[in-house]
Amino acid sequence: MNQRKRILTGDRPTSRLHIGHYAGSLENRVKLQDEYEQFVIISDVQALTTHFENPGVLKQNVHDLCIDYLSVGIDPLKSHVFIQSSIPQIAELTVFYSMFVMVNLLRHNPTIKTEAKQYGYTDLTYGFLGYPVSQAADITFCMADLVPVGEDQLPVIEVTRKIVRKFNMLYGPTLKEPDTLLGSCPRLVGLDGNSKMSKSLNNAIFLSDEHSAIVEKVNKAVTDPNRITLKIKGNPSVCTVYHYHQVFNKEESDNICEMCKNAAIGCTSCKKLLSDSLNHLLTPFREQRKYYEKRPSFIKEVLEEGNKKAKIEGAKTLSFVKTAMKIDY
Ligand code: TRP
Repeated sequence: MNQRKRILTGDRPTSRLHIGHYAGSLENRVKLQDEYEQFVIISDVQALTTHFENPGVLKQNVHDLCIDYLSVGIDPLKSHVFIQSSIPQIAELTVFYSMFVMVNLLRHNPTIKTEAKQYGYTDLTYGFLGYPVSQAADITFCMADLVPVGEDQLPVIEVTRKIVRKFNMLYGPTLKEPDTLLGSCPRLVGLDGNSKMSKSLNNAIFLSDEHSAIVEKVNKAVTDPNRITLKIKGNPSVCTVYHYHQVFNKEESDNICEMCKNAAIGCTSCKKLLSDSLNHLLTPFREQRKYYEKRPSFIKEVLEEGNKKAKIEGAKTLSFVKTAMKIDY
């Protein structure tokens, strides 16, 4: 009997993961897999909500995402990494939940609104508007207790919690209401100072970036615009580099803050300290990545095993759900 509580978390296979993902949730996932039974979903169906015209990119992205996970230390012996479209029960649950979720709840969801704006949508597909419903299916198919995600996703997880409560009210206690867990850094700013790090804004440091790329990117990062000479005292609170020090160089960050405020350190040296800490974190991941990149059949096996386990759990949940809904013919 497995007594461990469950985690469900995951990502869309739309781009490689960056250091914002690491601080926002990956770091937590790596820590928590010892204590919890962890399911990690590669949500390719959800990626289709924005990539339906270009589905061909997803296959390679699924593979790359799995490599990102393994490289940072998600261990397939402790975590089940699986593909959303391979689990039919997730699609079935999505249909059942969609019968009682109100359109207004989705329409007013802050994450949906922000993302729709980002993509420049003037109208929404049924699937895009409904992705919080399919995400509720992602989370509940294995009766997850905990969902470690980045801050942007909080309103979406709130929809899951509402769906669970409504299901249980309508059909009797069946589903588990999950808790959310935020990472050490709720939101990492981009290299350009934009409030969000993302591939599409071209302001991200990827986990797969080479040593030299990190040095180059950090050198270009936006600092206090008023500090035009070394002698001028800096204001760390408006500096992107300081923001990263607080997350990736915790031990030295107070000291760096003081030195910057007193003009005792210049931006160039401060950036060097940051790229050193980032490389210290990322070098072992880079080595792991090289190992996995040479072993595509191992990646395939990890995903097959994960899918197998997810289908078993999905079948159990679906049977409870159908019984509760009295459609267990
Ligand atoms: N929506 C998440 C994102 O864009 C990815 C995701 C899909 C997810 N299903 C999930 C996250 C279930 C947590 C739980 O990052």
